[in-house]
Amino acid sequence: MTKVPGIDQLLTNNRAWAAEVERTRPGFFAHLAEQQSPGYLWIGCADSRVPANEIVGMEPGELFVHRNVANLVNHADLNALSVLQFAVDVIKVKHIIVCGHYGCSGVRAALRDTRLGVAEHWIRPVRDVCEAHRHELDMLPTEAARVDRLCELNVMQQVRNVCRTPIVQDAWRRGQKLAIHSWVYGLGDGLVRPLGPTVAGLKSFDELGASYLMRGAF
Ligand code: CO
Repeated sequence: MTKVPGIDQLLTNNRAWAAEVERTRPGFFAHLAEQQSPGYLWIGCADSRVPANEIVGMEPGELFVHRNVANLVNHADLNALSVLQFAVDVIKVKHIIVCGHYGCSGVRAALRDTRLGVAEHWIRPVRDVCEAHRHELDMLPTEAARVDRLCELNVMQQVRNVCRTPIVQDAWRRGQKLAIHSWVYGLGDGLVRPLGPTVAGLKSFDELGASYLMRGAF
């Protein structure tokens, strides 16, 4: 296990980083402090191995980020919905990326039906996805393969949830440009794989249909 640096190291790192950014781009922070206008909302897992900005080469100010265990968007989650509303109605992002990752611990716990205390309630929606696709998952040869497939299915379900919110539905109805993307990230190679078709409006959401759930359709 790697040694955890002392907290002072993080503050030292921060001063070095801020100085380096200011040296290469004078006025960067002063400009950014005035306002943010990122074009993207990232909804991802809280896992430390999936750092949103780094993965897609985005700088401060370019990505609006929401992360939680297993990248969920539940219709009763005020936190996620507040982020979504702010991103869509105020910042007016053009893209929403739901990015899961293979080997997700939250997804694995849902698949195994592990006792987790309160976290069990959080990942319950993933168990629902698991149950809905039990037949397909059972046909896979290993648990690792089942976890990875459930990671993909979970992303697709969360994209559906995003698309069904009144926030996104209303944005599309008033003609706002807004595309929803389903991605999954590979911890082992650092690469993002787009999963399904981009949903860019009410019509393309309707057209998704059942094919969205079939692996061959990607
Ligand atoms: Co995860």
